[in-house]
Amino acid sequence: MINLTGRTALVTGGSRGIGRATALLLAVAGARVIIADRSDCTASVDTATWSEIVRRGGEAESHYLDVTDSAAVDALISDIAERYGLDILVNNAGVLTAGAVGETDDDTWSRQFKVNVDGTFYCMRAGVRAMLEAGAGQRGKPHGKIVNVTSISGLRGNPGFAAYCASKAAVVNLTRQAAIDYSPKGININSVAPGFVETDMTAVYDAPTRAALEGQTPNGQWADPTQIADAVLFLSSDLSDHIVGDILAVDGGWLVGTPVVA
Ligand SMILES: NC(=O)c1ccc[n+]([C@@H]2O[C@H](COP(=O)([O-])OP(=O)(O)OC[C@H]3O[C@@H](n4cnc5c(N)ncnc54)[C@H](O)[C@@H]3O)[C@@H](O)[C@H]2O)c1
Repeated sequence: MINLTGRTALVTGGSRGIGRATALLLAVAGARVIIADRSDCTASVDTATWSEIVRRGGEAESHYLDVTDSAAVDALISDIAERYGLDILVNNAGVLTAGAVGETDDDTWSRQFKVNVDGTFYCMRAGVRAMLEAGAGQRGKPHGKIVNVTSISGLRGNPGFAAYCASKAAVVNLTRQAAIDYSPKGININSVAPGFVETDMTAVYDAPTRAALEGQTPNGQWADPTQIADAVLFLSSDLSDHIVGDILAVDGGWLVGTPVVA
């Protein structure tokens, strides 16, 4: 039902975890997928996301990109726009470091804002410019699609993760703000807010903490990265053309409430 044939998608942080699952799924839907990460292009041909897509008959490229480098972001996105046009941008690259306010040093604070907020902003800025120039959503062309990967930690507090929560909350409101500006111009901007997902990022949780977190999740489960990718795929497709500035939680019900039995 979702057909992205002829469209080009850029996925930041696409070498592993949620980004990798998203890149693979967008390719299955027919998109040409550009992976931009600090690590994919250094991975072996056997393990890299791009080569997995090509092995399956899809079209993909991998580029080294540090999303905190705004000049590099501009250069990569204008190169993609020139060669193919940019239809879909998934801002997934992110970092997480633990620490309550009193335990968070300057470097930890600014690193998380640099990657999670500045990186998302740089890619969005270059992305909307490229999409506007190509006339996204105008004259019968498909809407441009931007999907920011935020977190349930951007919508409520998460004990011990001050900088991460604050940075993801910034992405939530940047999504809403930009959605208002660019929806009339043919670009849909939305977010996916994952709950706990099985990736390298959540390897920081020990077994008892993990069991406690599962116990507080209504469906009792952590997500597989493909379950987050499913939501990103939907928000990247024509099926979501009337969805503007939404923050779609994919969290097993975490934000809805805690299953405490009285
Ligand atoms: N795993 C979870 O439970 C969870 C929950 C909520 C939100 N998220 C968010 O989902 C996104 C993906 O997380 P994940 O769990 O797959 O993590 P991950 O650590 O497995 O993958 C993150 C990817 O981002 C890349 N990256 C980091 N900094 C970068 C930079 N400066 N430039 C380019 N690439 C960079 C890494 O190389 C890596 O490939 C992140 O934004 C994260 O905050 C994850």
